[in-house]
Order: sequence, then structure tokens, then C-alpha cells
Amino acid sequence: MGFRKHYKIVTYGCQMNVHESEKIAGILRAKGYEECANEEDADIIVFNTCCIRENAENHAYGNIGALKKLKREKPSLLIAVGGCMTQQNGAAERLKKKFPFVDIIFGTHNLGRLGELIEKKSARKKAVVEIAEEGREDGCDEDIAFRTSYPNAWVNIMYGCNNFCSYCIVPYVRGRERSRRPEAIVKEVNGLLDRGYKEITLLGQNVNSYGNDAGGAFTFPRLLDDICKREEKFRLRFMTSNPKDFGEELIRAIAENRQVCHLVHLPVQAGSDRILRLMNRKYTAEEYLEKAALLRRALPDCQLTSDIMVGFPTETEEDFQDTLRLVKEARFSTAFTFVYSPRQGTKAAAMEGQIPEEVKKDRIMRLVELVNAQTRALSSGYVGKTVEILCEDRDEKKGLYLGRDEYGRMGYFRSEKDRVGEFVRLKIEEASGISLYGRLAEDEREERI
Ligand code: 5AD
Ligand code: SF4
Repeated sequence: MGFRKHYKIVTYGCQMNVHESEKIAGILRAKGYEECANEEDADIIVFNTCCIRENAENHAYGNIGALKKLKREKPSLLIAVGGCMTQQNGAAERLKKKFPFVDIIFGTHNLGRLGELIEKKSARKKAVVEIAEEGREDGCDEDIAFRTSYPNAWVNIMYGCNNFCSYCIVPYVRGRERSRRPEAIVKEVNGLLDRGYKEITLLGQNVNSYGNDAGGAFTFPRLLDDICKREEKFRLRFMTSNPKDFGEELIRAIAENRQVCHLVHLPVQAGSDRILRLMNRKYTAEEYLEKAALLRRALPDCQLTSDIMVGFPTETEEDFQDTLRLVKEARFSTAFTFVYSPRQGTKAAAMEGQIPEEVKKDRIMRLVELVNAQTRALSSGYVGKTVEILCEDRDEKKGLYLGRDEYGRMGYFRSEKDRVGEFVRLKIEEASGISLYGRLAEDEREERI
């Protein structure tokens, strides 16, 4: 493929990882690499891994293993593995043993050093491993991200998590909370808006704790205020909030800043107070519902989405029924649903009363059915209504443009003209699951003439 060197990045996990892969792409481009579609054409393949559940790890393991043959045929190919999986206790040793052909292993705190690690590797035969203890290394230059998600952009506001929910590996692999300075974030967002980006999503493991590590010198609601000083039209989203410290001041900031979308992702995890306590979530189901009610009183159109888990150790059918009840009462517009997966080193993994797989499977099926029914009911309410969509892309297979409304619903439509990056009004004609199909409301006016 010509003289230029090529890279391929394979990403697993959450938005945080997706955004960090943009930074990896930026680092590789600065070193003269260009992107390619196929692994066969690549000179370097980087795996940005996730370890939140066992199946995320299995995926990565499978795909790394599959490269053994390619590496044998093309020994100059560099294979690098980074992200959350490598940061777990003993993971680098396990990876090296299982995949002796991997060239570079880097931890979550060493992302910014990938360029140097490539240099280091080219000067020696042995694999290069760099997994920093927290605090020793910094993350990465934020400006380096090579973005391909126009008109949407992700912006990190903080790293790490201090909550130690008993099931979760994130605090171990991402370290303690570190907030970026508000001036730096505002500058980055302003730069993106200047370049025409229309939707900014602020990322943090728990955005409500933003600024806590600076003694409260700055807070998340005030950050929203600062960003929204811009006059032009854009959308501001954020994820994720933790219900334990979601409160009136944040609701005020959502209400007062017209750019902030009326959609809050507020993971509840479970509906049983006993399970919530074992999870170390620090709220009860009733407190959660009170917060949801507070939000809806202030912003009646606000929609709520959530993360929900089934099969936490000792979960009984009764506990699970509490979860189903809460899903109904909270009226989630949609939710991500997960089967609990024991993660080595977490408290819950060592608990007695692990739930058998077939019970977990049965519960997740019933939960998904309920969540889907709620999503469908809400979607069908859109038919006949006009919504505003930010056009993000074109689906070549369907031959339709697509984008989301303020509440995260995907809307598809036909257009002669390229609409990517424009806010358009859609009259919804059909709803299917979470997707809406409509036609441009401008067309409607034309028809009437
Ligand atoms: N097993 C299953 N799901 C998990 N999550 C976090 N840890 C686990 C685990 N060990 C889910 C939570 C969290 C989401 C990002 O992933 O619901 O909110
Ligand atoms: Fe995966 Fe969690 Fe890490 Fe995100 S923070 S990449 S979901 S383990």
C-alpha cells in the first residue's frame, strides 16, 4: 500500500475508550502513519481493550490471538495492546505468556507514551511493557485527538473513579479521580465549536465528582455554565452521573443552560435496597426515584436512561422483582442491561452466593423484554410529531441520513442534499424500536404549496 506506514486501531468498551482511541490515532499520525481498513495492510495494530465484563476481555483475547498467523507472515508488523485490560494485576505477564508475538503492552496511564514505546521497540527484539502505577505518568495531551466523529466530539473532563462499587474493576484500572482544569476544558470546547462541531459530550466516570479532587474549587454545574456562555447553537451532553451525588444544583444548570440536552443517564444498577447496599452504591431505590422526580418536576420533558445489572451475588427473585418495579416507576426511556460478571480483585467477586448462569440468563431476558417494551411505547408516541435532529451521518445501506434528537432517539430520513452537521426538523412517520423514520419538515411545506 505505497510508501506510507499504516495503522489500524481496534477499540473495545465505553465512550472513554472510543475517545482515547482518537488520541492513539493522533499519536500515530504524528509519527507519519495513515489509517487503513484491513489488518492485513497495517504496519501497526493497536488494541484498546476493556475489562468491565468477562466477555469484553474474551473478545479482545480472541482477536489478538487471531493475529498470530499474520505476524508470522509479516514479522515487521507491530502489535500493541493497551487500555483497561492491561492495567489489571498481573495482566501484562499473562498477556506476554499467552501472546509472545505482541510487541508493546501499555497501561491506561501510559497512553501518551505510545510514540516513545514504538521507538523503543524498534531498537530491540524483546517486547516493550510499560504499565505505570497511578500518578507516575500522565495521560495524554488532549489536543492530539484525531477526530472522525464530526459533528459530535467527546471531551474528557476527568479521569478515574473513587467510588469502589463492589462489582466494578474501573477504580483499579483507571486510578483515583483526576479533574482537568475548567479553563482547559472550556478552551478545548471553544476550539471545537470554532471548528464547527455541533454536539459536545463531556466524559467522566462520575461527572458529579468533578472538582472534588481540587477541594471543590470548581464544580460540574459551574463547568456547564462556563461552557454554555457561547451564543451559537450547539448541544451539550455528559456522561456519566452517579445518583448518589446528583442533585438540585446540577438540575439548575441543566435547566438554565439551553444547550444542555434534557437527557440524563443515571445508572441505577438495581432496585433492591439490600442489593444496592451490597453494591456499595450509597442510595436506596426510594432515594433514586425521588431524584428522578425532582428532575422531572424541574424539567417535565427530561428523559432518563440507565444501566441495570442482574445476577449480582445473592440476588433473589424478589430482589429482581424490585428491579423490574423500579424500571417501570422510573420510566426509563431506554437502558443498558448487563449480566453481572465477577471481576478478579473486586469485593463482589469474593462474595458467597454467586448466581448460576441459567438464572442470570432468565433474568436478563425478562429485564430486556420490559425495557424494550417501554422503549417501543415511548417511540410510538413520536409518530406524527416533529422533532429536531442533528444529522450525523449517512447510512449507505439504507440510503438514508441519520441523526439523534435531544433525547438520544435516532431519526432516519431521505435527503437529496448532504445534511451532515445540520440541525433539521423531521416529521416522524414510523417508529421501530429506538429508531424513528421521518421526512424533512421542510419538504412538507413544499408539498403544501
Ligand atoms: N458486571 C456486569 N456489569 C458491570 N458493570 C460494571 N461492572 C460490571 C460487572 N462486573 C456495568 C454497570 C456500569 C456499566 C458501565 O457497566 O452497569 O454502570
Ligand atoms: Fe471498559 Fe470501563 Fe475501562 Fe471504559 S472504563 S474502557 S467500560 S473497563
